[in-house]
Amino acid sequence: MKGLILSGGKGTRLRPLTHTAAKQLVPVANKPILFYVIENLVRAGIRDLGVIISPETGDSIQEAVGDGSRWGVAITYLLQDKPAGLAHAVSTARPFLQEAPFVMYLGDNLISNSITKFLQDFQQESADAMVLLKEVDNPSQFGIAEVGPDGRLVRLVEKPKEPPTNLALVGVYFFTPAIHEAISGLKPSWRGELEITDAIQRLLEGGRRVTWRTLDGWWLDTGKKDDLLTANTHVLDEWSRRDIQGEVDGDSTVSGRVSLGAGSRVINSTIRGPAVIGEHCVIRDSFIGPFTSIGDHSRVEASVIEHSVLLAEVTISHVDRLEDSLLGRQARVARHHRHRCLQLLLGDDAVVEF
Ligand code: DAU
Repeated sequence: MKGLILSGGKGTRLRPLTHTAAKQLVPVANKPILFYVIENLVRAGIRDLGVIISPETGDSIQEAVGDGSRWGVAITYLLQDKPAGLAHAVSTARPFLQEAPFVMYLGDNLISNSITKFLQDFQQESADAMVLLKEVDNPSQFGIAEVGPDGRLVRLVEKPKEPPTNLALVGVYFFTPAIHEAISGLKPSWRGELEITDAIQRLLEGGRRVTWRTLDGWWLDTGKKDDLLTANTHVLDEWSRRDIQGEVDGDSTVSGRVSLGAGSRVINSTIRGPAVIGEHCVIRDSFIGPFTSIGDHSRVEASVIEHSVLLAEVTISHVDRLEDSLLGRQARVARHHRHRCLQLLLGDDAVVEF
């Protein structure tokens, strides 16, 4: 069994975080989304991973992920010359996949479930493909499935204007090599892409067995929803643990599941978990409340922060209360001591609400 991660695509920047064009590298609880994808595959026992990359963002993906040795796996990078669709990505990966069955995992999808049980079911059922489904509120933005009264998958349709159901295809798929033949006869969709949804529909039409499971945990299609605060809250709530590597002085209190990176210092402050603070940060005379992630090399002074995501190298100074906020790399928010006014350094597409 191999793993195929799709980390190519158009490189459309995830607003308002324009520091990286690769949406798969946007951090949730200080860790790139793509790393959660890799870890889910590795935990399911998959050791041979192919990663689709694009010419625009491939270098940054390779730099962040490396050769896979940190997870004890082999990673093969597969360059897709243009973002011609998920099925096109699979044909690009054919020399890597050969005749192996594989799990295809979209690099911008974050799910709470482990895929291990789904993988075991797929292997035991000896189906030609298995998809994961979850009810959504905005079905016209996803691939949608129709299930018959007998519980069998009847039809799949990509981003329908009039969705027949609200059962969306989650970005994790289980395939046998039968999918390659289905892809070879595909025509581009109305959006000009070779759709994996259409390829699975062809499997159904050809009488192949396609099974499905529903996802009971949460699912964030981060590339689309850009609701990083929600993702951050879920991940900190469920997966964070206490790990203090930095220094905490005698006038500070750090309670609950707090991760404090190496080289960081907490001075005369209170940190209440779940929260994650990266490496080489300084937190001075401040309160950091639950569900907050602070990126490496950030500085917080005389401020209160709660339920917020700060990317790397952010400075916050003398801010009475910052909550439900998302600050991009190198953002700066400071209240001027003498004039008591706010001083801001905001990136592209920044939004300030008072
Ligand atoms: O997230 C689930 C949805 O993902 C499914 O419900 C849809 O059926 C499926 O088509 C897909 O829709 P999206 O419009 O969200 O796909 P997107 O273009 O965002 O691409 C998903 C991932 O695959 C993303 O990490 C980029 C990568 N990708 C995409 C294309 C089009 C590639 O690596 N190569 C490509 O050619």
